[in-house]
Amino acid sequence: MIVFDGVAKEFADGTRAAHDLQFSIEKGEFFVLIGPSGCGKTTTLKMINRLIEPTSGTISINGTNAAEQNIHALRWNIGYVLQQIALFPNMTVAENIAVVPEMKKWNQNQIKARVDELLTLVGMAPDSFRDRMPNDLSGGQQQRIGVARALAADPGILLMDEPFSALDPITREQLQNDIKDLQETIQKTIVFVTHDIDEAAKLGDRLCLMKEGSVVQIGSASELRDSPASDFVRDFIGSSDKSMVALKEVMAPSEESKYVKNEWESEEQMLQYVTNHQNELVQAIYNGVILDDPLTLPHSSSIKEAFAALQSQGVPAIPVHEQNKIIGTVSYEELARLAVDA
Ligand SMILES: Nc1ncnc2c1ncn2[C@@H]1O[C@H](COP(=O)(O)OP(=O)(O)OP(=O)(O)O)[C@@H](O)[C@H]1O
Ligand SMILES: [Mg+2]
Repeated sequence: MIVFDGVAKEFADGTRAAHDLQFSIEKGEFFVLIGPSGCGKTTTLKMINRLIEPTSGTISINGTNAAEQNIHALRWNIGYVLQQIALFPNMTVAENIAVVPEMKKWNQNQIKARVDELLTLVGMAPDSFRDRMPNDLSGGQQQRIGVARALAADPGILLMDEPFSALDPITREQLQNDIKDLQETIQKTIVFVTHDIDEAAKLGDRLCLMKEGSVVQIGSASELRDSPASDFVRDFIGSSDKSMVALKEVMAPSEESKYVKNEWESEEQMLQYVTNHQNELVQAIYNGVILDDPLTLPHSSSIKEAFAALQSQGVPAIPVHEQNKIIGTVSYEELARLAVDA
């Protein structure tokens, strides 16, 4: 757990970038710092790993004051991912990932195994990527290596400062889905900075909306949407409030969906998603034709992505999964209801 207690930062030139920050981030939480440019998000994030030292107040991490911890030990236990990941250009992908384990003097077999494990975790085949050079990777691949490197020594906390903002929208959505899945699997505490409300709503368990160095409101996306603390909050959420609705709230859950079947059935169905007993998708049949490669949507997807998926697949409904288990479906019907209820 990370606790900010009366934390303030005033830079040497008199700029007050943060004042009286008072909040706790739970272990395993996906916590998003959001707000307009210059409101103090990066300053707040960098005070956690002491790239910036607070002027007053304390930040404690798992009960210990960060200011009193050995700075190297502190940083080793906190992964850090930036907007423009700075990979070392003359080191291979594997060497880049291994930087912290090398510093911690792990043995070579252990490092090699960890590199392969992490490449797999971020969706890059170890055999094809471990010996590549950073310049031969796409922007999205470089960001993935950045995430792998930040996770290398298995830190409890991951700080991410606009890690996807330099990417094209499709790669960005993919990485958002992947990081959300990853967080659910590996249970890290993630503190994530963005000024994009859609990204914040999609990823955050809680959002911390900042303005001019102060916290304006902390809550889940739906709390901010339904009970904004001020006009500033209402305006900030503004027209994107549709995207603040979680797919999970909108979809028809499996037991109510007319599209999901747990057993093989011979009866004619226009669209049928067949799942096995672990609720994993086995097959999709549309108008009697088996679909190659049927799409499923991660539960963290936005409403916009759900609409795009329905259009691209040309089917009336798409299954929604959480950790590969089908938990429901979303169809044009649910999306239409959302528009009417709003
Ligand atoms: N080293 C510094 N010296 C003086 N002022 C600084 C310094 N670093 C940041 N600031 C100022 O502190 C304020 C907060 O900056 P910060 O980088 O935390 O904002 P931000 O919310 O991350 O903005 P953005 O969305 O543009 O990244 C800004 O007014 C900024 O100009
Ligand atoms: Mg910033």
